[in-house]
Amino acid sequence: MQNNVRPESMERITTKALADAFIDEQVKEIRAQVGDKKVLLALSGGVDSSVVAALLIKAIGKQLVCVHVNHGLLRKGEPEQVVKVFRDEMDANLVYVDAVDRFLDKLAGVAEPEKKRKIIGAEFIRVFEEEARKQEGISFLAQGTIYPDILESDGVKAHHNVGGLPDDLQFELVEPVRLLFKDEVRVVGEALGLPHGMVYRQPFPGPGLGVRCLGAITRDRLNALREADAILREEFDKNGLAGKVWQYFISVPDFKSVGVKDGKRYEGWPAIIRAVNTTDAMTATIEEIPYTLLHHITARITAEVAGINRVLYDLTPKPVGTIEWE
Ligand code: XMP
Repeated sequence: MQNNVRPESMERITTKALADAFIDEQVKEIRAQVGDKKVLLALSGGVDSSVVAALLIKAIGKQLVCVHVNHGLLRKGEPEQVVKVFRDEMDANLVYVDAVDRFLDKLAGVAEPEKKRKIIGAEFIRVFEEEARKQEGISFLAQGTIYPDILESDGVKAHHNVGGLPDDLQFELVEPVRLLFKDEVRVVGEALGLPHGMVYRQPFPGPGLGVRCLGAITRDRLNALREADAILREEFDKNGLAGKVWQYFISVPDFKSVGVKDGKRYEGWPAIIRAVNTTDAMTATIEEIPYTLLHHITARITAEVAGINRVLYDLTPKPVGTIEWE
């Protein structure tokens, strides 16, 4: 049975030296727990699952089987980064599942936010289950559970958890970062050699762009959202806001307005920028982005992204607006 209570004597991991000591200890523990058996991990590319993957690769190499499910709702470049970092650079045993059509077909015509979330969660479990059944001799399931997950809930994550697996597919858990806080997971991730951008990336909801492509998702609007989001992230990076603003993204609603482009009527969707600061996501304030930068981002998005003809900036703090629009 795992110990799920952080001892009061446990020092906060803030330096590379402390992270290295944690890594050495975990490598030993993981080897002792797993022996020569195989471990399965759902690798989303988020901070927690990436750090767990890197730790397990260090401890048991190819005995770890990572499954990356591309559900079509990831940000631009993310699935490619997972393959590059874990398969190409860390030589991991990585199963890449292109499930884009499956998810988008299931979501077609579904406008209700909670229904969309449920479909994405359930389909994720189904895809993961299918991959798990294809693998021979798996004894353990690794998860990126972190300490706040244990404190705040019953220890499982909303969408990333694979706790919904059927009874005949239950594994013993390996949760090496379960006693760590997020900032410690990041320090450990850097010590393990993961790219800075992966370790310090902003929070991203499990259902991904699915909660930002508002209403019923269509492929063309989802593409427009992904491209506009990539421009926003690029500009925040270039202008020193990436490390400063807690969360920033674009939402695209499913209505069009009239515009004009190249002298012709151009109907398009609005791209709504949201950039918030918070410590716990329970309340949030709005980042004051310089107007010149807002103008520049607006010019780029309207010029470069097919289907977008306006850019809006959401000034609403939480409460009363939640961080996500759905
Ligand atoms: P809200 O919109 O409730 O968001 O103010 C608070 C934080 O939670 C994230 N979020 C989610 N994360 N699954 C997740 O894993 C979800 O369904 C989900 N919905 C919102 C949101 O991005 C913000 O950081």
